[in-house]
Amino acid sequence: MCGIIGYIGPKNCIDIVFDGLKKMEYRGYDSAGIAVLHEGHISISKESGKLENLRPHLELLPAQAKIGIGHTRWATHGLPTRDNAHPHASERLALIHNGIIENYKELKAELQSKGFHFRSETDTEVVAHLLGERIQAGDHPRDALNKVIPRLEGAFSLALICDQEPNFIYLAKQGSPLVVGLGKKENFFGSDVTAFCSHTQKAVFLQDGECAALGSESLEIWDRSGQKVPAKTTMIQWSASSADKQGYRHYMLKEIHEQSGVISKTTHAFVKDGKLDLDALGLNTIDLSKVSSIHIIACGTAYYAGMTAKYAMETSLGIPVNVELASEFRYRDPLLQGEGRTLVMAISQSGETADTLACLKHAKEKGCQIFSICNVAYSSIHRESHGTILMHAGPEIGVASTKAFTSQVLCAYLWTLAAAQKLGRMTSSEIDPVLQELKSLPIYMDKALNAEEHIAELANRFYESPNFLFVGRGPSYVIALEGALKLKEISYIHAEGYAAGELKHGPIALVDKHMPIVAVVPKDSYYEKTISNIEEICAREGQVIAIGDDKDQHLRDLCVDIIPCPNLKTPMFQAIVSTVAVQFLSYYIAIKRGTDVDQPRNLAKSVTVE
Ligand code: F6R
Repeated sequence: MCGIIGYIGPKNCIDIVFDGLKKMEYRGYDSAGIAVLHEGHISISKESGKLENLRPHLELLPAQAKIGIGHTRWATHGLPTRDNAHPHASERLALIHNGIIENYKELKAELQSKGFHFRSETDTEVVAHLLGERIQAGDHPRDALNKVIPRLEGAFSLALICDQEPNFIYLAKQGSPLVVGLGKKENFFGSDVTAFCSHTQKAVFLQDGECAALGSESLEIWDRSGQKVPAKTTMIQWSASSADKQGYRHYMLKEIHEQSGVISKTTHAFVKDGKLDLDALGLNTIDLSKVSSIHIIACGTAYYAGMTAKYAMETSLGIPVNVELASEFRYRDPLLQGEGRTLVMAISQSGETADTLACLKHAKEKGCQIFSICNVAYSSIHRESHGTILMHAGPEIGVASTKAFTSQVLCAYLWTLAAAQKLGRMTSSEIDPVLQELKSLPIYMDKALNAEEHIAELANRFYESPNFLFVGRGPSYVIALEGALKLKEISYIHAEGYAAGELKHGPIALVDKHMPIVAVVPKDSYYEKTISNIEEICAREGQVIAIGDDKDQHLRDLCVDIIPCPNLKTPMFQAIVSTVAVQFLSYYIAIKRGTDVDQPRNLAKSVTVE
């Protein structure tokens, strides 16, 4: 993963690079480092842990430096120590890297046999020494790059500074994202436009196989064959509003509370005069009449959004829908029909998730139509797609996805309704009542949010439990999976989500009087069956916490507690509203356990390695 950034221009670079790293920290926070080039000397400062740990060490860098590169790490090779932090140095250069060099072991052995000494356990240091070796042998950095890059396997974006060429930063891209920002007499680069969009809107997205020399007033790009490539500029309209916590204790809490507003904005964007706006929902960017199968591809929480969407999509469109984890889909050689007959839909908050992106590229090569639902505009997945719904969730900073999930479910559902309308499978008389209920969805969300205090108290009772089960049926099964994931990632409690009907096929063996089981049980078509499953749990003394109707006497008799949740007619809306309870529950349990809610251990917001 990792985030990279750099600056070259007339200003002092350290603050610019450090501020850029703050915006990149969602890509990893295991360590951070900056290298600058000043008066022919390279100086490096780096530290393990969060970016703030680096701040006191910035004094060691020459304050007047005008060329700098910075890195924030999510560890892949080697512990998150200072030695493993980037930049990595070799003869006359400092290098930063996002991605993985898959053949680093062979290359390392080769370099060690030549006497190179390694200071870190990273794959990156291999690249630094390969380049250093060439530069020491007299190669210009550009020639060194041209010789070394073909030897590297894997995905990477690289940036290096070299004392021999003090007026340039050298860049290379293969698989991992890399974008240049062109300013006035100053230039930038970053893993994405967030790194520099507060300085300039003029961006050049480098393509795989390209290298570049970035000066303060120049950008030269060349491809694998060494041919010069014209720089294609894009004017980005993306504000750097990294949003503060607005008085909330954590971003996650703020983002949970923002969900009714996100629903209103989404409705405003995609429903015009009481009708679905097919254009805004991207229906004109793909040819649905050709489509005979749909694959929804995503990871983590976004995958659960896809699973939820399937419940509506398959029946509404009459097209088989497969929902699959991107990391599995890509490597099993799935059956994809060319000429646009297979539609691949990616769901991704960041738009940078490497596994999801790899699937899209693969499907595109096979002639599939590519559609995506993304939160971040100009992200790699957005740019790789034939059509995209840009969500209206706003920046999501908390590592655990909350408002992006409910927004993904809503966008996928509105797309499904629009697609069904376009295919003539749903009429206005069927869609209008749903849009009518959509109008009230923010109010229902607010009602669900009102359960916060109740849930915080509940967390006081259960936060010491080492295990949790989450169960539900239909779309509520997916909300159970999402609840278990949220709890695991921010409270570090072991939790599992199960289809309620599946418990008796194994997991019920775990149930005893010490096991809390969160049952998502709205009054929908699955209600009676879920109640039967709750009875089975109660017969084994399991402690059931229901998310449902707190006036429901039957439920009250069975459960140790009910988190009140409004009932809605539309199953997708019900799923959205039920989600709030599992988000709050994991949040307040994590608070009681004292974990770092917004930046949980071992995680990063954007997962850019496969
Ligand atoms: C969990 C979470 C992750 C992401 C996953 C995909 O709370 O945030 O599971 O959902 O890494 O990320 P995106 O949506 O950026 O592709």
